Amino acid sequence: MSETVIKRAKKISGCFRMAGDKSISHRAALLSLLCRGPIRAENFADGIDCRRSLDAVQTLGGLVETDGVTVQITPPMSGIVSPDRSIDCDNSGTTMRLLAGLLAGSNISAELVGDESLTRRPMKRIIDPLRQMNASIESTENGTVPLTIKPATLIPIDYTLPVASAQVKSALLLAGLASGCPVTIREKNHTRNHTERMIKHLGGDIQIEDVKIEVVPDPNDPRKKKKRPETEEYKRTIALSPNGLLSGGTIEIPGDISTAAYFIAAALLVRGSHLIIQNVGVNPTRMAFVTMLKQMGAEIKMKNRTEISGEPVADIEVTYSRLKPHKISGDVIPNLIDEIPILAVLASQAKGTTVIRDAEELRHKESDRIKAVLKNLTAMGVKVGEFPDGFAVEGGGELNGVEIDSFGDHRIAMAFAVAGLAAHGRTVITDSETVEISCPQFFVMLEGLRS
Ligand code: S3P
Repeated sequence: MSETVIKRAKKISGCFRMAGDKSISHRAALLSLLCRGPIRAENFADGIDCRRSLDAVQTLGGLVETDGVTVQITPPMSGIVSPDRSIDCDNSGTTMRLLAGLLAGSNISAELVGDESLTRRPMKRIIDPLRQMNASIESTENGTVPLTIKPATLIPIDYTLPVASAQVKSALLLAGLASGCPVTIREKNHTRNHTERMIKHLGGDIQIEDVKIEVVPDPNDPRKKKKRPETEEYKRTIALSPNGLLSGGTIEIPGDISTAAYFIAAALLVRGSHLIIQNVGVNPTRMAFVTMLKQMGAEIKMKNRTEISGEPVADIEVTYSRLKPHKISGDVIPNLIDEIPILAVLASQAKGTTVIRDAEELRHKESDRIKAVLKNLTAMGVKVGEFPDGFAVEGGGELNGVEIDSFGDHRIAMAFAVAGLAAHGRTVITDSETVEISCPQFFVMLEGLRS
């Protein structure tokens, strides 16, 4: 268990290229099992989570060759066979949920296990629709891991996502690809669409259609009625028609916007700062953090926009700005769900009350992130309020350096390390090695930006 001390910063500045996106790297690793030739993934994410997806691919007979941040994955010649040991997904919900879908569609037996945090996370959300596809998948009585998969012949599914989750959507798409069964998914809230983009990039047949639907505001919910005077919203339909194995080939992985978020926040918190982060994925389903910050008054510019392997990328330039508070709820939440802890830290410095609602999903991440954020903000001297589905932060006061409980959660550790840059005194991040889940170099990078 390591501790890392963060001291107040005078200024943050620099220019660096962002390491590969975690979500996209997971998909490159796992989709390789459904390809007829190797995948060469450039700028593959260097955290432990994505390593778990590569380990799983190896356990299933794939060959993984790594040269720096380039990873070449050769699928097993005669397809996936039942592994001779259980697959340990460790802390990675994305490995667990996507792989469960892929294996449930592969007509094999497998057992998936995880660490203490993953063992607490809900799996019923993938088990229910996979069973509708006739998959044989068992969990504990509480719908948690370990998951046991047995051979089964799947059937097509037309499924409306009850929870806005890209992991659930992707589990079903991978089950469809592995089994050859068509899958239709309907989503009311757009979630990250990296799986769809990568399937298309690798030659799969996947159609996306946006349809307008009538929304009748709930007369008993004054908050929603006031917020949504419009009577229409978009619903997305994703239709996968599997047409054999995917092609394989090169995938250039964009920089991780969710990790870039901590550095963007650092520059916005420390007076006089200026930062350029190159090659960041700017997929619209991941951009709500930047959109919200701009609405809060942040000076953030996108430059050199281009597209790599079916994903948009850009350089992000951020200049210290005084932020205003904001009310954030509704459809944008799934598109900034991972950035809410660092947004809460930024809100502590925006004079007035920031409110975040409709974010109950935060309670089901690597930790209960509502509890974790509020405990640590309170310890730093910030007034907060808790809702079942979010929180309020009274911003504009001073932050005190204290001991931070990271809850063993990488995003909590990184968010409060950034808070430490603006706090008086020493901020001590406990269990700080947890940053290795998504960004092993995080503290070195942060220290390197002080000037
Ligand atoms: C992810 C989707 C999100 C996100 C997670 C990564 C993905 O989870 O919180 O960190 O790669 O698909 P949900 O889709 O379950 O909300």
